[in-house]
Amino acid sequence: MKIVMLIKAFVNSCKIMSKSKNLQRHIWLKMMKKFIFVEAKGLDTAQAYKLVVGCVVPRPVAWITTKGLNGLVNAAPFSSYNYVATDPPMLAVNIAERSGVLKDTARNILETGEFVINVSDEASLDQMHASAQEYPPETSETDVLGIELLSSRLVKVPRIACSPVQMECKLDQRVVLGTGRNILYIGEIVAFHLREDIYDGNRVDSVKMRPIARMGGPYYAKMGEIVEKPMLQKPPGGEGWINQKP
Ligand SMILES: Cc1cc2nc3c(=O)[nH]c(=O)nc-3n(C[C@H](O)[C@H](O)[C@H](O)COP(=O)(O)O)c2cc1C
Repeated sequence: MKIVMLIKAFVNSCKIMSKSKNLQRHIWLKMMKKFIFVEAKGLDTAQAYKLVVGCVVPRPVAWITTKGLNGLVNAAPFSSYNYVATDPPMLAVNIAERSGVLKDTARNILETGEFVINVSDEASLDQMHASAQEYPPETSETDVLGIELLSSRLVKVPRIACSPVQMECKLDQRVVLGTGRNILYIGEIVAFHLREDIYDGNRVDSVKMRPIARMGGPYYAKMGEIVEKPMLQKPPGGEGWINQKP
């Protein structure tokens, strides 16, 4: 008799738990459908910046090297960046003005028409981050931080040795955005340098590359779990990749 009562009590408590779980889920779903509306018009620069860098995540980091007319090599990270074309391959990066003056990277790109985008990985995170420090134009971040450089082949700007991929770029066009505080520099990639352990001559092993990503605020992200899905479309201009591991 006691056993039967115990079983009944257990079944009842399971029912209650499942009901409360359903209730929790119901509340959660209701909350998930509540949104805070923010109209962009009227936001000041700081508010707009906070929203956009918090929402557009994770962002790849372009660790850009440039060379000034004074011969000094400049290095700085930029995460308002992505690839924008494949025919020919092109990248774009937004470099904001600093107190109405061009940042060293932007000035050097405009003066020489050349830059190198170095992929930032986990191993180089600290050096990459440190290179965001505001150094005067007559100071080279690569000298101060002891960043080892390698010469490029098609541009005069050197590349960063510890980066797993370096892309030599020539400026294609400069697009002034909005009020002019932000300028988009679109560059054509004229050469890739791919470290042997991450490139087999056909595909880039982007997982092995361990790229670092920028999140909102002071946060970076390392790669987490990788999820595989079959490719549903052919890559532009070619065969391959459908039902093959990228
Ligand atoms: C991870 C990271 C991403 C950044 N992204 C950008 C960006 O997209 N655009 C920008 O103007 N500044 C960006 N900055 C700030 C520049 O790196 C910083 O202003 C730097 O001092 C510019 O150096 P320079 O004057 O030598 O070009 C970023 C900084 C960090 C740490």
